[in-house]
Amino acid sequence: MEQRTDSPYPRLDRPILAGVGVVLVVSTVLFWWADRSHDWRYYQGEFRQMVVEKFGADRAGTVPSGIQQIWAPGLRRADRCQTCHQAVSWKGFESAEEPWRTHPAEPLENHPIEKYGCTSCHGGQGWAIDTYAAHGEVAHWEEPLLSKSLGESYSLATDKKALIQMNCNVCHRYDRQTKGADAINLAKRLVQEKGCRACHVINGYGGTIGPDLTEVGEKAPEQYDFSRLSGQKTAFAWHVAHFKDPRSAVSDTVMPNFHFTTEQSQALSMLALSWRRVAVPAEYVAGAPRTDPRTPEEIKKEEDMKTGPGAWFVSTGCFVCHSISALGVTSPAQIGPDLSTAVVDVQSRFGKTIDDFLREPTGTMSVVLSRQIILTPEQKAIAIQKLREAFAEYERQKKAGATPAAPSH
Ligand code: HEC
Ligand code: HEC
Ligand code: HEC
Ligand code: HEC
Ligand code: HEC
Repeated sequence: MEQRTDSPYPRLDRPILAGVGVVLVVSTVLFWWADRSHDWRYYQGEFRQMVVEKFGADRAGTVPSGIQQIWAPGLRRADRCQTCHQAVSWKGFESAEEPWRTHPAEPLENHPIEKYGCTSCHGGQGWAIDTYAAHGEVAHWEEPLLSKSLGESYSLATDKKALIQMNCNVCHRYDRQTKGADAINLAKRLVQEKGCRACHVINGYGGTIGPDLTEVGEKAPEQYDFSRLSGQKTAFAWHVAHFKDPRSAVSDTVMPNFHFTTEQSQALSMLALSWRRVAVPAEYVAGAPRTDPRTPEEIKKEEDMKTGPGAWFVSTGCFVCHSISALGVTSPAQIGPDLSTAVVDVQSRFGKTIDDFLREPTGTMSVVLSRQIILTPEQKAIAIQKLREAFAEYERQKKAGATPAAPSH
């Protein structure tokens, strides 16, 4: 038989039960009150009023109430932004204040909100229904709203609204140009012109002297070394400082200082941070083919140089960084000096013969020859011979009166 134990506090039973009951009632009231006081109810009330005034009570009846959600399964996003931003698809509120303003039409033409939601472009926390939480102004949230206010706090040099373009480029990374993403377009042009791929793999091809940048946007702020930088400790600020002068962030780097302006550095930082490993299904990736291909002109130029007198420098990969103008080789990036006169320049610049320089290179070439282009002693001998041939050709052209293409530095 079960033993029944008497309560050790027989006289307290009822008061305790009564207390629990009161707490339940009070907390229910508090929950109800907290829910009533969400600001979205206020925004919805105001919007309904605006519709009544503008279009009459009948139309106002069609304004949905309660929490509004867009479920974009392809992007695995459930965005409730329209709970407050109810006017997004309404015509007639183009000059109202936020959150009651009609959405600018252009971005939504190619990206209907039923399929794209809001956060794929804007960032923020889709499921949140309070302003601060939705706009991502909360600690440890890695996707804040890429808004004008954030652009202001990052001191963007030109268009304060430009940060949103980082999200555009998550899907548009293979476009050379994306209408409406001017900062990203500027940065892509610079990557092409400056030949960043001489040292970096981007979207699958490029050199290995610097780190692969294909997913550099995944790095957490904690992974950056801010010890040499003052000011904001954000990944964005680190990249801007690094682009303006790589050595200001990494003292022993071989990444050249391209003397980028603030606008260019900020655009490149946005581009770098947009290179993320976001799983976007194929149907959401714009542009085909998806390999960031070289243009036909670029390929033809390379082919022509491969068969000319400077073919060795092209097939070995030196031309990625060096022009050898005497032999008709033009480097797309011109990161290093023209090699037409290297055999004499090395002597004056490094105080070594060309043989010694290639055997024991310094600076960028020590990284190039140990990581990217590994040459056997026999191949180094060929390199020296080719450099001598280039110089002989340079001298011959000079004697012949032709102005040899001036070696650029
Ligand atoms: C609780 C209501 C509420 C929710 C939910 C909400 N917003 Fe807002 N939003 C506002 C209000 C109010 C403003 C205008 C005042 C301000 O800027 O904070 C605004 C302004 C904005 C602006 C302009 C800000 C600027 O700096 O230019 C953007 C963009 C925006 N919201 C996007 C979003 C997105 C995206 C979501 C969903 C993740 C969202 N909002 C969810 C209330 C809300
Ligand atoms: C395809 C990307 C895209 C999608 C999807 C999108 N927007 Fe926008 N939205 C933009 C762009 C771009 C602008 C800025 C246009 C401009 O420069 O004036 C903008 C402007 C805004 C603004 C005005 C603030 C400002 O910076 O001018 C608000 C608020 C806003 N969007 C909310 C939303 C909400 C809510 C949704 C979802 C229902 C949404 N957007 C979906 C791209 C998008
Ligand atoms: C979630 C992925 C995604 C995001 C984010 C996105 N786009 Fe798109 N965009 C696409 C896809 C996919 C298409 C192709 C649509 C079609 O034609 O079927 C497209 C089409 C376009 C087009 C028209 C086609 C073209 O290439 O000329 C423009 C312009 C454009 N997007 C600009 C933008 C801008 C600006 C933003 C940021 C505000 C943005 N997109 C954000 C996926 C995206
Ligand atoms: C001569 C080789 C070289 C060239 C050319 C070069 N870089 Fe770099 N880059 C490096 C090296 C080495 C590092 C690693 C050390 C450092 O952070 O500076 C680096 C680092 C970076 C980083 C930081 C990566 C990280 O993981 O933090 C970015 C972003 C970057 N480069 C972008 C570019 C862009 C964009 C260009 C073209 C405008 C470019 N680089 C041109 C060698 C180069
Ligand atoms: C990733 C870019 C890169 C590649 C590839 C590269 N170089 Fe260089 N090279 C440089 C840079 C930059 C310098 C300038 C010195 C420095 O900054 O340390 C340089 C300097 C030199 C010099 C000294 C020239 C002078 O006038 O002082 C020689 C010689 C040279 N490289 C030969 C080669 C050869 C041969 C190859 C191919 C096997 C090659 N380089 C491939 C970037 C590169």
